[in-house]
Amino acid sequence: MAKMWAGRTAGDTSKLADEFNSSIGFDSRMYKEDIRGSIAHARMLAKQGIIEWSEADTLCDELARILDDITSGRLEIDMNAEDIHMFVEEVLTSRIGDVGKKLHTARSRNDQVALDLRMYLMNRVEELTIDTKKLIAALTDKAEEYKEAIMPGYTHLQRAQPIMFGHHLMAYAMMLLRDVDRMADCKRRMNISPIGCCALAGTTYDTDRYFEAEQLGFDGIALNSLDGVSDRDYVIELLSDLSILMMHLSRLSEEIILWSSWEFGFVELSDAYTTGSSIMPQKKNSDMAELVRGKTGRVYGDLMAALTMLKGLPLAYNKDMQEDKEGVFDAVDTAAMSIGVFIGMISTMNVKTENMKKAAQRGFINATDLADYLTKKGMPFRSAYKISGSIVAYCIENNEVLETLPLEKYKEYSDLFEEDLYEDIDLYTCVNKRNSVGGTSVQSIEQQIKYVRGLL
Ligand code: ARG
Repeated sequence: MAKMWAGRTAGDTSKLADEFNSSIGFDSRMYKEDIRGSIAHARMLAKQGIIEWSEADTLCDELARILDDITSGRLEIDMNAEDIHMFVEEVLTSRIGDVGKKLHTARSRNDQVALDLRMYLMNRVEELTIDTKKLIAALTDKAEEYKEAIMPGYTHLQRAQPIMFGHHLMAYAMMLLRDVDRMADCKRRMNISPIGCCALAGTTYDTDRYFEAEQLGFDGIALNSLDGVSDRDYVIELLSDLSILMMHLSRLSEEIILWSSWEFGFVELSDAYTTGSSIMPQKKNSDMAELVRGKTGRVYGDLMAALTMLKGLPLAYNKDMQEDKEGVFDAVDTAAMSIGVFIGMISTMNVKTENMKKAAQRGFINATDLADYLTKKGMPFRSAYKISGSIVAYCIENNEVLETLPLEKYKEYSDLFEEDLYEDIDLYTCVNKRNSVGGTSVQSIEQQIKYVRGLL
């Protein structure tokens, strides 16, 4: 079939070239944005006297009908079309004849695709933001529930100091809050209309770009036409924001996988979010968390692909840019699924507080507090640190723990030790004494929860 863009060419393109060139397989998901953009364009053309109002009405009515037909399934998108822009225009012209051919006045697919993609991604960012907030709320609720559940806090994956499980969860709530903020920032820059930049240089028609942008709800317009059609910064920004978000989810996934192991036994995921093994009947695997961890790699890949695709492109549009869509759609879909699964997985997660506590009681995670005890009694911290270390070494050697080591033994190391030392190294005391702003005490966790809920 003759191509709409067959201006100077007469020969047909090869079937393979058509397939290679086609983007309808993935850009058809922007049909709503494409039609909404075209309706705004038709109105603008009429307002400026470039076409008649009666023609604009015919165009808009039929475009609305096409939208309705696609949404309801009455009109199937033809996968043989080159892209969604061509498909909509072809259907329009086949239905209303010559008037349909007027729609593309003072417009190019270059500004059209840039417009559609911005509108589509802005909606998706909105949805992702809502879901990320739901996940933050789920984490915060769990944190509140377990704000007094003691667990070992780790550095180097070695037991370090006691913390509350709620504190650990709130750390992730804070990360995700920054993700929400990053997405809002990205959306702010995305919210600029490129329509009217045309192919690359603007147009000789007396268009009103502000009117068109306003109808579509944009905050402003691209002020350089070359930039307007070739800017994909917003794609890259979104991909990097989603890479960071996935990295956060991946870290939490890794912890959940560890915590679910027999070795840790800190949490048990709901059956709804685990799988079994076809051969080992005892297995309960955290596949969802593993998949999120694995899929994080894909999103990074999408970011790298977009950066690499753009780096050598001269201004303005090049067909390479058609490659912007699959990656960013994949990243958005992947992040949306991962967040969705996480909301359910976190809110149904069973926390085994006894095991956490047992783990906290081993590993001398109150050794810092023992040193602090001596420091408060007047000993310089470095000396106290040394003594505390020697006592730990003694305990390890003799299979003892700090909590039950007799006072006489302590006194062999320093006269400053008194009966009250046991109170100071009690795990609950250790945690609740860490009442500095942002610390792990219950009071501090409550403040964090209040802060996060206030923002949500
Ligand atoms: N399908 C194309 C894309 O996604 C639309 C723009 C085509 N423009 C062009 N000059 N061939 O980039």
